[in-house]
Amino acid sequence: YTELEPALCQELRKIVEALVVPGKGLLACDESPSSMEKRLDEIGVENTENNRRDYRQMLFSADKSQFSKYISGVILHHETVYQKTCDGVELIELLRQRDVVPGIKVDKGLVPLFGAKSEKTTEGLDSLQERCIQYKRDGCHFTKWRCTFAISDSTPSQLAMVTNAHVLARYASICQSARMVPIIEPEILNDGEHGINRALEVHEEVLSILFRTLQEHHVYLEGMILKVAMVLSGIKNSANCTPQLIAEHTLTALQRTVPPAVPVIAFLSGGQSDSDSVVNLNAICAYEGTKPWPLTFCYGRALQLAAMQAWKGNEENVPEAQAIFLERAKLCSEAASGQVEP
Ligand code: 13P
Repeated sequence: YTELEPALCQELRKIVEALVVPGKGLLACDESPSSMEKRLDEIGVENTENNRRDYRQMLFSADKSQFSKYISGVILHHETVYQKTCDGVELIELLRQRDVVPGIKVDKGLVPLFGAKSEKTTEGLDSLQERCIQYKRDGCHFTKWRCTFAISDSTPSQLAMVTNAHVLARYASICQSARMVPIIEPEILNDGEHGINRALEVHEEVLSILFRTLQEHHVYLEGMILKVAMVLSGIKNSANCTPQLIAEHTLTALQRTVPPAVPVIAFLSGGQSDSDSVVNLNAICAYEGTKPWPLTFCYGRALQLAAMQAWKGNEENVPEAQAIFLERAKLCSEAASGQVEP
């Protein structure tokens, strides 16, 4: 059950409704300045505040009607919320013009979880409520927080699963109290040699502990978004899993652990190639089996990398980069409807 007032529950459900639209997904472009360093370095562009602004302005000023056809929400980094285009228009105003709901990453990144073997937790709970209240005033209506879990013979440990479940639950209840819909992201990483069955086992354990903990914190399940990885074999595992097998394992993990009260499950791309991220999402969304939740994408790299390569920091490349970004968004949208031809 929830302790939240009916009016607050209704407000959260309204935000969810604006985000969960058939054929639309979310764009994650909340990379921190230090993550942008790596990406911009690859295209030979200096990692300055202005260049990060120019890059995001390129994405958000792509054709209005196509943008809003495929994307319902965009996750921003703090810096982007307060940036303006070279003509003085707030970047989040470009999103509003495209009928897109702005969201904000509120975690402050991964830190070592002392007492667990090389595992991580996520910090940022201090003063989270004040930050959420401010972001809400400044036009954001949903938030994101990511915890990660690494698979090895001895991990994720019980300590990591329980600690991160509490961190995610506390984050979610603070955001809901500040009238923001939390995206809860327990990302199970696919580094390593494990097979797909081990990934299934870990997804089931992590998600069942997470939902038990969300219930203990009385998080309002109808007012949240779950963001997960697909169930894949490790990147160092030589077995080649078919999209069908990935879909079957992913849905098995979700059916066994995620209550139907959750209004949407959005997948992250997690370093999959552009084509895998489309084909696998399509197989999951076309899978014939119990799927009580809408399913969609919340992609970072799989929506952006090709466009960034085309952009290269050069004003002249903007139209081509935008066309590539919109083509990726269209493909992901078709995959979310299970309509991509195999
Ligand atoms: P990727 O789709 O690149 O994995 O990023 C999604 C994201 O927001 C991770 O937190």
